[in-house]
Amino acid sequence: MEFFDVIQNRHSYRGNYLDQPVPREDLLKIAEAGRLAPTGKNAQTCSFVLIDDPQILARLGEMFERPASMKSAKAAIAVIAKPSRIFMGHSFHVEDFSAAVENMLLTITDLGYASVWVQGGLFMNGAMDQINQMLNVPIGQSVEVLLPIGVPAETCASPTKKPLEERIIFNRF
Ligand SMILES: Cc1cc2nc3c(=O)[nH]c(=O)nc-3n(C[C@H](O)[C@H](O)[C@H](O)COP(=O)(O)O)c2cc1C
Repeated sequence: MEFFDVIQNRHSYRGNYLDQPVPREDLLKIAEAGRLAPTGKNAQTCSFVLIDDPQILARLGEMFERPASMKSAKAAIAVIAKPSRIFMGHSFHVEDFSAAVENMLLTITDLGYASVWVQGGLFMNGAMDQINQMLNVPIGQSVEVLLPIGVPAETCASPTKKPLEERIIFNRF
């Protein structure tokens, strides 16, 4: 896919997945895209748990009512962040994992899979703590984003975005 087509085709997918596996080779390629993302002071504060164990996937599916895609995901990536004061007392871990997540979403799209950035959902029903426990996430680190992955069974479109004219200003407001 052309680079800008990947950007245009990426959208949050919350539907069911086909019963097709996601090979580890593809999971590694997606994670590699995350690894290569920029990080503040090159501190590389996040890591990625690549999940293809059906038991863990089933438990994740039980944990989340929505998005429905969590229930049929054939794989998932848990993005683990380690807050670290690396620049004048400031931690860039949020920026670091966000850049990694977007790189991974674009790669997921390019490989013909679909996903959604699940972060808000981690604050519901104690999901964040449960996942940290289930994945043995070390103290001082936490899951921040979950990406369900699979081949989409349905088509779904992105919500409307504001037109470019409403979001750009040349030179000054
Ligand atoms: C920080 C952040 C948190 C998000 N959390 C969730 C979530 O918990 N569950 C969900 O279904 N979508 C979540 N999303 C996806 C957004 O709802 C989605 O990106 C937005 O509606 C725009 O749609 P698009 O991704 O198709 O362009 C999140 C996105 C971001 C950037």
